[in-house]
Amino acid sequence: MDESEKSGVPQGDVTRRQFLIAGTAGMVLSGLPRTVYGQSSTAAHALAPVLTKVSFTVNGKNHELELDTRTTLLDALREHLKLTGTKKGCDQGQCGACTVLSGGRRINSCLTLAVMHQGDSITTIEGLGTPDKMHPMQAAFVKCDGYQCGYCTPGQICSAVAVLGEIKAGIPSHVTADLTAAPELNAAELRERMSGNICRCGAYSNIAEAITEVAGRTQ
Ligand code: FES
Ligand code: FES
Repeated sequence: MDESEKSGVPQGDVTRRQFLIAGTAGMVLSGLPRTVYGQSSTAAHALAPVLTKVSFTVNGKNHELELDTRTTLLDALREHLKLTGTKKGCDQGQCGACTVLSGGRRINSCLTLAVMHQGDSITTIEGLGTPDKMHPMQAAFVKCDGYQCGYCTPGQICSAVAVLGEIKAGIPSHVTADLTAAPELNAAELRERMSGNICRCGAYSNIAEAITEVAGRTQ
């Protein structure tokens, strides 16, 4: 097998540099006909919004919205319903700032389209409690100082509420050793179950204290 067959790079008269230049030029040029021969209109068509009606319940109130089908649930909540308690951190499922409850289960609202929630019941931090009548988890976060800047807090609280629901329902996690026994909220379980919620301020120990306190009251 000669060098050219082994490497896939033409040898001999064509130098490596010439090959790379030719390849790059080919990539650039290959993009041109797409624009020249009408692909641009396809692209423009793809960008045109397709609107659809979606209705769901948020914090006990029915809403019907007409949305671009690409609208995430997070943007529907923040931009259309003005429920800005739910935060946008990474917008790609990495930080948990956008956590809300859908039918009691926690979801990253940045990773799901609003149209996928037709008929669903969504709860955001605004629906858990109010400043005058806080949810026990909200009150525990305040009491235990479970936040600094507060940006991650709505997501942390929604997640924490869901975690206690998971424990109560006997749902095991990745670190549950005995799948036949009811899981307990020990430190390992808490860390694992809350691992999708990042706190840039590092308020983790106080967050854990708040959740443990509420868990102690409800177990
Ligand atoms: Fe959704 Fe970060 S904003 S996970
Ligand atoms: Fe600031 Fe968690 S309190 S990011």
